[in-house]
Amino acid sequence: MNMFHLQDKVVLITGAGGGIGAATARAMHAVGAKVVLLDVTENAIQELATELGPRTLAIFASVTSREDLDRAVARAVETFGGIDVVFANAGIACDPPTTIRNMDEATFERVVEVDLLGVWRTVRACLPQICARNGHVLVTSSVYAFVNGVVNAPYAMSKAGVEMFGRSLRAELAGTGATAGVLYPGWVSTAIAKSAFGGNAEATELVKLAYPSVLRAPIQPARIAEAVVKGVQTRSARINCPRRWIPISILRGIFNLLTDLTLDRDKRIHALIRKMEK
Ligand SMILES: NC(=O)c1ccc[n+]([C@@H]2O[C@H](COP(=O)([O-])OP(=O)(O)OC[C@H]3O[C@@H](n4cnc5c(N)ncnc54)[C@H](O)[C@@H]3O)[C@@H](O)[C@H]2O)c1
Repeated sequence: MNMFHLQDKVVLITGAGGGIGAATARAMHAVGAKVVLLDVTENAIQELATELGPRTLAIFASVTSREDLDRAVARAVETFGGIDVVFANAGIACDPPTTIRNMDEATFERVVEVDLLGVWRTVRACLPQICARNGHVLVTSSVYAFVNGVVNAPYAMSKAGVEMFGRSLRAELAGTGATAGVLYPGWVSTAIAKSAFGGNAEATELVKLAYPSVLRAPIQPARIAEAVVKGVQTRSARINCPRRWIPISILRGIFNLLTDLTLDRDKRIHALIRKMEK
């Protein structure tokens, strides 16, 4: 297979201020890439840029703003001459998690705005560069693209949308020299996953009831970053990390029938959901 070498390539990463984005910036920088760090947490990206040293550019911008993103792309091009890889990764979750009927309108729409439309806006702004340079687009979906999004519906529906966006884009770019892929992280120890791991008692209990321990053990962001570097170097259509989720993804039709049935019938889960609505 033809390797896509990342040495001296320009990689723009959204959500680079923390978790998976910051870990990936470190890993990309370590293989010689120039990294454009985009986030709404200015301190975090400035600190990361200082830590990494040369070949970095920190840009304070929101993926919800078309103007911010156009400005970010213009600055990246001005500084490094172009963009070869975009990693549309910024995301937020419903915090605290709750049901569709209980969630306030602004929270629901903000999650979709960042997690789904933010990915579209990021890719839209970068795509002319990626196509001109035979580059690669990577979008962060989640195992929530295919597992039930109970008490996190705007998040899960956005992640399912991001998966379809990435798959469609890959097919549309086929044969052009540019490529696209989808990242499916399982649970990762980052700020966004806190409520499911102690931050919110009911959400933590729900995850314990609904998933076997082998699936719910969170991994470190550095592991995702390593998988991302390999996945971009090979222009992978799918990056599943940890790999224990691969059978679930492949057999999602069957698993979805079974998990949806459990969610329909398990009274302990119903009681937890009612509690989360209070
Ligand atoms: N942690 C997990 O368990 C997990 C699992 C599956 C998918 N993901 C996805 O991975 C991605 C990264 O999340 P993470 O786990 O590193 O969480 P995180 O909270 O550590 O990082 C998310 C980053 O996105 C930034 N961000 C939020 N809104 C933004 C906006 N409007 N514009 C620009 N940046 C913004 C935040 O400031 C933060 O730095 C997200 O898309 C998330 O949904 C995470």
